[in-house]
Amino acid sequence: MEFSTKCASPVQIKSACAVVGVFEPRKLSTAAAALDRAAKGYLSAIIRGGDMEGKAGTTLLLHHVPNVACDRVLLVGLGPEREFRDRNYREAIAAALRVLNSTGATEATLHLTELAVPRRDGRWRITHATAVAREAVYRFDKMKSKPEGTPPALRRLVLGVRDRGELRRAAAGLEQGLAVAHGVSLARDLGNLPGNVCTPAYLAEQAREVAKRYRMKITVLEREDMEKLGMGALLSVAAGSAQPPKLIVLEHRSGPRSQRPVALVGKGITFDTGGISLKPASEMDEMKFDMCGAASVLGTIKAAAEMKLPVNVVGLIPTSENMPGGRATKPGDIVTTMSGQTVEVLNTDAEGRLILCDALTYAERFEPAAVVDIATLTGACVIALGHVASGLFANDDALARELLAAGELACDRAWRMPLWDEYQEQLKSNFADFANIGGRPAGSVTAACFLARFTKKFKWAHLDIAGTAWKSGKEKGASGRPVPLLTQFLVNRAGRGK
Ligand code: BES
Ligand code: MN
Ligand code: ZN
Repeated sequence: MEFSTKCASPVQIKSACAVVGVFEPRKLSTAAAALDRAAKGYLSAIIRGGDMEGKAGTTLLLHHVPNVACDRVLLVGLGPEREFRDRNYREAIAAALRVLNSTGATEATLHLTELAVPRRDGRWRITHATAVAREAVYRFDKMKSKPEGTPPALRRLVLGVRDRGELRRAAAGLEQGLAVAHGVSLARDLGNLPGNVCTPAYLAEQAREVAKRYRMKITVLEREDMEKLGMGALLSVAAGSAQPPKLIVLEHRSGPRSQRPVALVGKGITFDTGGISLKPASEMDEMKFDMCGAASVLGTIKAAAEMKLPVNVVGLIPTSENMPGGRATKPGDIVTTMSGQTVEVLNTDAEGRLILCDALTYAERFEPAAVVDIATLTGACVIALGHVASGLFANDDALARELLAAGELACDRAWRMPLWDEYQEQLKSNFADFANIGGRPAGSVTAACFLARFTKKFKWAHLDIAGTAWKSGKEKGASGRPVPLLTQFLVNRAGRGK
C-alpha cells in the first residue's frame, strides 16, 4: 500500500472514498460537517434517522453523496469526544481499514488524521495512522501452498493534514510510521515462521540480509568462537540441539563517531521445548515465538536504518534451540559463564537467562551508553501483567523513565517492576555461585535479578515480553512488539522526537 499526505477539504478531494468521523452522540467531526454542508444536510439527515450514533467501532458506508467529489463516504464512529484519546484514535483507524479492505475502492482519503487527540500533534497522528493501517493489512501466508481469499483492493491511502504548516512534520510522521510498520512486519514474519524454518542459522541469514541492504557491519559468532570466549551458559543451552547456536552482532552506526552505542540484546530461542525439564505438550507449539526478542531487535534496527537515524546501535542476538537429548544439559549441571560466575542449572527450561547472560557480558566490549535486553523470559510475567504491558526492569531510573515514556508515545506500553536485592536471595545455590531459578514467587523478578548479576558495568534495562510478543487462540500470531517502543526510544535519543 502506498501512502501520501494532503491538505485539502474533503469536499474538493477527488477520491474513491472519503473517511470521516462521527462522535457519540451524533456529532459530526469537522471534515464530516464540511461534507454535510456541501451535500446540503445529507449526512445529518442520515444521522438523525438513527443509522450512525457515533459509537466507537461502528461504521457506515455511503454511496452517491450529493455534491461531493468522492465516490463513497465512510462514516466511522469515534465514541464520546471527551474520551477521545490515543487508543480510540488508533481503533477508529483500524475500524476504517477493515471496511476499506472489504470494499472495491482502490484508494481512499483518511480525514480521521485531522482529528484532535489530546497531548498529541499532527506528526504523531500521521505516524500512528500509517502504522495502524499497515498492521490492518498484514497477512502471513508464506507457509500456505496458495494464498487464501482475494487480496484487498486498496492500493493508496491519502492521509489528511489539517493545515499547510503541518505538511513537513506530517512527512516526518509518515517516514517514522512506515519505518515502524516495516520493522514490525519483519518481527512478525520471523516470529510466525515455524521452528523448523526459523532456526538460529536462518536468523543469522536474515540479519545478513538486513546488513547488506543497509550497509551495516555484521559479525556472526559460531560455536568455536563462543568456546574461546568461555560462553559456557549459552553453549549449555545449545548442547541438546542438532542446530548450531549463533551470536549475531549487527551494527547500525550513523551517530557521531564518539557517541557510545545503545546495545539491544534479543533472546533468540528458535524453539523452547524446556530441554530435559521438558514442557507439557499443550500449546508447546507457541514456543516457536521464543525468539521474538531477537526478532524485535532486527525489526528495530531495520526501522532505524530505514529512517537513517543518527544514532549508534549494536544489536546482539544470542540464538539457539532448547532441546532434550543425550548431550543436553541436565538439572543440577553447573556451567561457567563468560563472566566467570558459575551457575547451577536447576531447571533447563530457564534457558533464556542463560543465553542472555553471556551476550550481556559480551556487550561490555562495545562500551555501551545503555543496554536494553528484550526477551520472552517468563510465564510469570504473563501472570503479573497479562497481554497489555511488557515488564520493565532497570538498574537506572533515567533509562527506565526513557523507555516508559517511549512506550507511552508509541502505544506499546511497559510497566516497571522491582529489582530489589531482597529478591536475589531466592537464587542461592548450595553448589555454584547461584542458581538459574528462584522458585515460584515473583518469577519474572528473580529472572531479572539473575540478569542483573551480569549488568553491573553499564546502564541496563530488561523488557520481559512474554505476554506481549504474540497472541494465542484464534488470532494466534506474533505482534511485532516492542518494535514501536524501541524505535521511539531511538528516535528520541536521536533528537528526532520533536
Ligand atoms: N520461554 C519461556 C517463557 C514463556 C513461557 C513465555 C510461557 C511465554 C509463555 C521461558 O524459557 C521459560 O520456560 N521460563 C520458565 C522459567 C521457570 C522454569 C523458572 C517459566 O516461565 O515457566
Ligand atoms: Mn524455557
Ligand atoms: Zn524460553
